Amino acid sequence: MSTQHQGRDAFASNLGAFAATVGSAVGLGNIWKFPYLTGSNGGAAFVLTYLLAVALVGVPVMAVEHVIGRRMRLDAVRAYGRVVPGQRFWSAIGWAGLLSALLIMAFYTDVAGWVFAYVLKSALALGPGRPLGPETFGALAGGTWEPIGWQVGVLALTATIIAAGVSKGIEKVTKTLMPLLFALLLVCDVRALTLPGAASGVAYLFRPDLGKISGTVLLSALGLAFFKLSLGMGTMTTYGSYLPEETRIVPNATRVALADTLVSLLAGLAIFPAVFAFGGKPAGGPGLLFNTIPLVFSRMPGGGLFTVLFFVLAAVATIGAMVSLVEVPVAWLVEKGHVARPAAAFLTAGAMLALGLLATLSQSPVLGDVRIFGKGFFDLFDFLSSNVLLPVGGVAIAVVGGWLVSRKEFLAELDKGYAAEPWYDRIVYAFIRYVTPGLILLILLNSLGVIRLA
Ligand code: PHE
Repeated sequence: MSTQHQGRDAFASNLGAFAATVGSAVGLGNIWKFPYLTGSNGGAAFVLTYLLAVALVGVPVMAVEHVIGRRMRLDAVRAYGRVVPGQRFWSAIGWAGLLSALLIMAFYTDVAGWVFAYVLKSALALGPGRPLGPETFGALAGGTWEPIGWQVGVLALTATIIAAGVSKGIEKVTKTLMPLLFALLLVCDVRALTLPGAASGVAYLFRPDLGKISGTVLLSALGLAFFKLSLGMGTMTTYGSYLPEETRIVPNATRVALADTLVSLLAGLAIFPAVFAFGGKPAGGPGLLFNTIPLVFSRMPGGGLFTVLFFVLAAVATIGAMVSLVEVPVAWLVEKGHVARPAAAFLTAGAMLALGLLATLSQSPVLGDVRIFGKGFFDLFDFLSSNVLLPVGGVAIAVVGGWLVSRKEFLAELDKGYAAEPWYDRIVYAFIRYVTPGLILLILLNSLGVIRLA
């Protein structure tokens, strides 16, 4: 076999694996959650902690999920139930993942509804008399029937896509439009960075004040790393089960993490310089994206159209991520419960809607006063999934991969695609055993007040 032939083969399959994984990772987490959490947690110190979490925790956990997924070639519940002989107990990782998918979708569809609403609202704003100001967002997110209507619409659309089994088609569309979203973010960045006073926004993002690293910052950054890279709940294990044998797991995971981080940073660079230039508040909460992007574009010729285009592309990226989230319970219902695909899709969407209504109404007068552990439903679901279930799942996944699967078996899967083991696979393996679970545990214990880091 000629080298050239080998090279071409490897390239084609690696690219496919890369694109699919990025499709699940890039979503509202990049353009909505990353900027809003950065703003609420004081800026650059959070960004730095997040970047460390991606490198020290995210990449190793993704490698384990891909190794176990490709080794087992099963859905997450069965993969973890069978990967350690005699210890079916680990299927709990898959079960917890199903619960995480429901909790995440409950608030994700609320936010996705805002994005879809903004497609319409920004288009209407092109005409006279319907400006897109901060009151627009307040009325939408704080309303009752309007956000519910959009949420139902978003869930119905996602369920229809999955029921029809056309997620492959959607993936293709997402993949072609993703580079466009990237390009539009760059346009946004150029506009935001050339605003007078933009430099303070850049400093806010990149000049860390280490004194701001607190227990909350550590836990939020860790939780965001899991959420962003779709880790700790079996999504990436399922993706691993689709990986070609020759995909090199560590480089693929590293590239995915880099691409995903780049999109987040580009979104941050579009938002914070503008926040500072226009005298807004970085800690603007979940409305930050919706209030800032129309403002940035309003200072450009043709800006109204760019705003519409931005929200259309954001909606497309969101559909891609939602399809990957809904697919978790659907795949299990179809494969294990022998439920027909359309029924599984609408059953899952129904469960997601039940929880989703709680999340949406917790921002409206209807359930606005209900507090559980001091949080409304929206924040509670977000906190429980990102900051509890996913990191705990991450520790369990690292322990299974690093300690319970034999070293030989694990490395054989990790090293596939190479003639000889590359130096970095041993380093990643050492991380998986010692560093990654240790760091997650330290941050979790710190949040519980058992130890005191920050
Ligand atoms: N990573 C996706 C985003 O950033 C969300 C997601 C989480 C998707 C978990 C699948 C699983 O929007």
